Amino acid sequence: MPMTDRIVSVNLGQRGYDIHVGSGLTARAGALIAPLLARPQVVIVTDENVAPRRLAPLQAALDTAGIGHDAIILPPGEGQKSFAGLERLCDALLTRKVERRDKVIALGGGVIGDLVGFACSILRRGTDFIQIPTTLLAQVDSSVGGKTAINVKYGKNLLGAFHQPRLVLADVDALDSLPPRELRAGYAEVVKYGLLGDADFFAWLEQHGEALLAGDTALRIEAVARCCAHKARIVMADEREEGERALLNLGHTFGHALEAETGYSARLLHGEGVAIGMALAFKLSAKLGLCDAALPARVIAHLRRCAMPAGIGDVDGAVGFDAETLLAHMGQDKKVRAGQLVFILAEAIGRAVIRDDVSKDAVLALLNEELAAIADPGPVPGHNTFRKAR
Ligand code: GLY
Repeated sequence: MPMTDRIVSVNLGQRGYDIHVGSGLTARAGALIAPLLARPQVVIVTDENVAPRRLAPLQAALDTAGIGHDAIILPPGEGQKSFAGLERLCDALLTRKVERRDKVIALGGGVIGDLVGFACSILRRGTDFIQIPTTLLAQVDSSVGGKTAINVKYGKNLLGAFHQPRLVLADVDALDSLPPRELRAGYAEVVKYGLLGDADFFAWLEQHGEALLAGDTALRIEAVARCCAHKARIVMADEREEGERALLNLGHTFGHALEAETGYSARLLHGEGVAIGMALAFKLSAKLGLCDAALPARVIAHLRRCAMPAGIGDVDGAVGFDAETLLAHMGQDKKVRAGQLVFILAEAIGRAVIRDDVSKDAVLALLNEELAAIADPGPVPGHNTFRKAR
């Protein structure tokens, strides 16, 4: 029996849009996109990894709806989110004479969504785009909310714009062909919503997370829709991250430091950094007396049960890490205010808070403890589940 799509509305006045979450959504994409078009043609931007799996079904759906299309297929990888990559994409869009009232489709994961979104934010001073996210991370986080960016030598996502998409189509069938490691990395962002603001959802994930990762379509639709609804609520309240939107960065301060230390390489995927970062944020919260001392273990137990990393020791090469260097990486965090690091900490599962009063000494003490434990890991049950699963 076909499953019904879930529709989440992001109510932002003229910048508002719907997020459709479902199975078999790509086949219906033409009909969903057609009403938005000023003329029946679009340009699809995707990458060489996604194109073989997802481009032809989308093109077929556009054909069925009588929508002309052209495709730009970029090399895969974070390297595209650069000045050079942005220039190449803008060239390709302008060569195809994309007009301001046209719609550009971003078909892919976070890199494609961020790059296409940023290019569209400046193309002819602002052109509309549609997100068709193909990774779990992009479906629950990066395709929703209008954050677009490229990376520069100072750090990740430091040049960008808020530019909302006109439509998001999250087809969970795309997740079937994701490499398991990438799926689990995206699952960290799913867990994030439970931990930051929805204790019932975290309990639901404790019950259903493994089945969801194993491929249950109904559970995937439910989880993606719940995450999108949660993110939509936050974005509607604080589109430009002047306040509570920062909660979506739970786990990201520690995570970004680890990503920077591993050179943003395949040694640590973004979601893996977020998983470890969330475990560390709960440990720091417990050390500061903000939350119950037993909570970090509950968070870590769920991450480990889902074969996800949950400690610095899970990062390849972590024995060489140094606490001061990790702390220095945090200095480029976008949440830094007047030189003070801002952390998203937790008072409980489902109750995250923004704190700008955490001393560097407390952070260093936690990092040093973690690094000392790697040097002498002792008998930690389940400690190596993540590495084995990779
Ligand atoms: N990824 C965090 C946000 O969209 O605010």
